[in-house]
Amino acid sequence: MQVKVIIGTVAFMLSMMVFGYAALREPARLERFTDARLGRQIESGAHLFENNCATCHGVEGKAEECYDAASGEPIGCIGLPLNYAPLLCEDVSLRMEAMKWEGSKEAFIQATLTSGRYGTEMPTWSQDFGGPMRTDQIVDLTKYILNWGTEELCSTPIVVYDWPELYAEYAVEYPDGDPAHGQELYLLYGCAGCHGTLDNESSAAVGPWLGNISENGELRIDGISSEEYVYQSILHPSAFISPDCPTGPCSGPPSAMPDNFALRMGENPQDLGDIMSYLFGN
Ligand code: HEC
Ligand code: HEC
Repeated sequence: MQVKVIIGTVAFMLSMMVFGYAALREPARLERFTDARLGRQIESGAHLFENNCATCHGVEGKAEECYDAASGEPIGCIGLPLNYAPLLCEDVSLRMEAMKWEGSKEAFIQATLTSGRYGTEMPTWSQDFGGPMRTDQIVDLTKYILNWGTEELCSTPIVVYDWPELYAEYAVEYPDGDPAHGQELYLLYGCAGCHGTLDNESSAAVGPWLGNISENGELRIDGISSEEYVYQSILHPSAFISPDCPTGPCSGPPSAMPDNFALRMGENPQDLGDIMSYLFGN
């Protein structure tokens, strides 16, 4: 009898130790499991990104380096930067604020991928809305994009430049444009991807050809000079919609031209002047 009680007690204590140990280890095991799962999602997202998104959003989502899918030639990145502090840093990022998004960052990105942005070049990706991707692929891409929001990316303060309302005021602060640098920026900011190159009217694919904007600009709004018009068009694309796009009347508002150049060029306000001096040939 006594022996049985002792054996029972020892067995009970042993099993409690085994369970207790397993219970203690459970959070660590779960975490490893979750990390491994996230790792696989990010890997799959990276692959999907390279094959479907990099032509517009650039290598590593920086919107700096884009290549034509068919020819491999360098082209202007017409998509926005995604590996980008104003999109990914802070709980409510600057971009979420600008788009008046009230949900989480993850939902902002996932929703944009799922349905695309109507009236812009950002396609719909979810099969639910006629796109090519399954929900799990959209989730993987979302995790991949969020994974760029590192401490390093978010440690540099975001510069928000307060653009003067009028070009005339801007030109007082930034009087000298560099047209050669402007030409490089015209490709780097993706202008060429939508507006084509200045020497070839038929190269414009999405937005109006800008080879003659120095004359045409002043025809758009009564009493507004071409310079003033171009300045406004870059900073506030939806404020006025130009009449003719390469494939017919331009759509909007909202404009199909991204409206974040004010923020992007705010890091280096001289860039706008350089692009203008390239467009105006001075
Ligand atoms: C044909 C070009 C093109 C392709 C391909 C493309 N995008 Fe976009 N994307 C855009 C443009 C243009 C915008 C900006 C739309 C606007 O003006 O709001 C955009 C916007 C976005 C945004 C919102 C960014 C912000 O700051 O508001 C996300 C996120 C995004 N794209 C992710 C993707 C992903 C992921 C893929 C691949 C599955 C992809 N895009 C493929 C052109 C493209
Ligand atoms: C994703 C495509 C896209 C990108 C990138 C883009 N634009 Fe546009 N842009 C458009 C479209 C579409 C319009 C016409 C609709 C409108 O007026 O907003 C337009 C209009 C304009 C106009 C007015 C043209 C006219 O004839 O009235 C100017 C000027 C302009 N863009 C300059 C630029 C510059 C400079 C850049 C680069 C910093 C740029 N755009 C980047 C698509 C784009």
